[in-house]
Amino acid sequence: MRSHYCGQLNEEKLDQEVKLTGWVNRRRDHGGVIFVDLRDREGLVQIVFDPDRYEIFNQAEHIRNEFVLQVKGIVRERPEGTINDELYTGKIEVLAHELTVLNASETPPFQLDEDDVSEEHRLRYRYIDLRRPEMQKKIMLRSQITRSLRNFLDDEGFLDIETPMLTKATPEGARDYLVPSRTHQGSFFALPQSPQIFKQLLMMSGFDKYYQITRCFRDEDLRADRQPEFTQLDIETTFMDENAIMEMMEEMIRKLFSNVLEEQLPHPFPRMSYAEAMLRYGSDKPDLRIDLELVEVADVLEDIEFKVFSGPAKDPGSRVTALCVPGGNQLSRKQIDDYTKYVGIYGAKGLAYIKVNNMADGREGLQSPIVKFIPDDSLDLILERTGAKDGDLIFFGADKAKVVNEAIGALRIKVAQDMNLVNHGWKPLWVVDFPMFEKDDKSDKWNALHHPFTAPDVDDIEALKAEPGQSLSRAYDMILNGTELGGGSLRIYKEEMQQAVFDILGIGDEEAREKFGFLLDALKYGCPPHAGIAFGLDRLVMLMTGSSSIRDVMAFPKTQSAACLLTNAPAPVSTHQMNELGIKLKKIPKTED
Ligand code: AMO
Ligand code: AMP
Repeated sequence: MRSHYCGQLNEEKLDQEVKLTGWVNRRRDHGGVIFVDLRDREGLVQIVFDPDRYEIFNQAEHIRNEFVLQVKGIVRERPEGTINDELYTGKIEVLAHELTVLNASETPPFQLDEDDVSEEHRLRYRYIDLRRPEMQKKIMLRSQITRSLRNFLDDEGFLDIETPMLTKATPEGARDYLVPSRTHQGSFFALPQSPQIFKQLLMMSGFDKYYQITRCFRDEDLRADRQPEFTQLDIETTFMDENAIMEMMEEMIRKLFSNVLEEQLPHPFPRMSYAEAMLRYGSDKPDLRIDLELVEVADVLEDIEFKVFSGPAKDPGSRVTALCVPGGNQLSRKQIDDYTKYVGIYGAKGLAYIKVNNMADGREGLQSPIVKFIPDDSLDLILERTGAKDGDLIFFGADKAKVVNEAIGALRIKVAQDMNLVNHGWKPLWVVDFPMFEKDDKSDKWNALHHPFTAPDVDDIEALKAEPGQSLSRAYDMILNGTELGGGSLRIYKEEMQQAVFDILGIGDEEAREKFGFLLDALKYGCPPHAGIAFGLDRLVMLMTGSSSIRDVMAFPKTQSAACLLTNAPAPVSTHQMNELGIKLKKIPKTED
């Protein structure tokens, strides 16, 4: 039906006859001549309908936006003064001599170039929203990205193997999406939170190198970088250690950025321990584009009268930290109050600060509700350690370490964004040496920081059991500009170690057998050392397209409340269907059957 894409025509095709198909982006009447911008996925081209060709000119008069056309015509130069340098096709136009209206369109619910269409409206009419050139670019770039990743993995000898969607719960820390079984009434499949266990089994079966671009399902609180169903690039290998894997994976990401964006990422990616990341950035996914750092001041403040600081300073589970913001003394009272509210979201009880107006004036040059509580020598040390200069502001966080890390870690990013302190460019890194377990404050139980199949850095089971809080895991996370792109680990491949980790996590023998019996059995029959990683593909595409939400790089995403506005899913089902499944609702919402 067509000889070229509209958006790919240029002056090389001058005087040629072309056949085009596409959507009417806009129709303009100019002194008897009709211009139509015809659009397809590659872009726009201007079609001219000349009144001398009476018949098709008449037809063109009835064309409206979003009509689907087929046009035959001759490529010609645009007259001087009408050249559009911003358009790839801007030097040419197509003089139409044949026109077929393939389909009409009602007036669309919004114009493609409208700026302030609500996201709700966009999602409801996603098929129209996706026609916008910006969305077309993102979805097409996504395809380019998966192609580059697949090419790399295919070249490295990876096999693309599928794993089940109807399966048993995978412990990745979220709630499961459940699917009731008709043939086994009262029983449920879980949709996979990840293919974790299956990919490990594939390694046990000897496939050596596996990958899959696959959907994962997690019922968790949604944010801009989380969706209930999302896509992982999932990878597993046999007989490779963490260094080999990390090197290979960063090479894949380097090639991807170079192929698709012509950006060169560092070689190698820097590595940072979890402990250092928390200490300096209050986060296990530090955004290294921001230079601000958290500075420890507990030792300086442990003996002062001011209990807000000295209390946490003396407590080993707490932290007192300072964050120096260059130029921060310009912040108004209101702005500081707003930041205080902001850290409150993370449980911080306040946000002390010192405005450094003029250090030469000693105390007089400092403006702060708390300097009166701080002796001279301590003040000097704080100024020295934070490297504060005239014009800066120092924020303080004092509380349980978890609260301070979350609050001041988030504040660091917020202030940097507000004050334009985020540098440009790409800052990848690996975070390594995670603790193997963390204590849940409420239940006093150990949780796995990654998943329970992650190998600890000790082989000695007794040592691990004696002090679970001391051991590190052989896990690694790839971080890019403050987003966790992917995470993986060496896996436990010995049954006794897997049992021990389940024990520490409080998963008893019976529960372990019921949930993971097949895995424990598999470990008995010659399981090789294996390791892997999974990348959040949507997040990767979000970063590479400069989008602010992963919803913008998924063709059909869900809303914040995990619904699809386009199809109205989830939706009630008929009583007949429920009966077949042996399910009765506690409270039956009104349906129309
Ligand atoms: P993890 O749970 O860290 O690891 O997931 C891997 C990556 O998937 C992305 N991701 C998400 N993206 C969008 N929406 C979500 N709700 C969401 N949840 C996670 C993140 C994350 O880094 N089986 C392990 C991997 C392994 O050990 O090999 C796993 O799933 O970018
Ligand atoms: P207060 O003694 O409660 O009036 O607090 C004095 C100053 O310390 C105020 O600026 C508070 O915002 C701040 N502040 C209170 N609690 C904390 C805390 N846990 N961490 C940091 N600053 C705090």
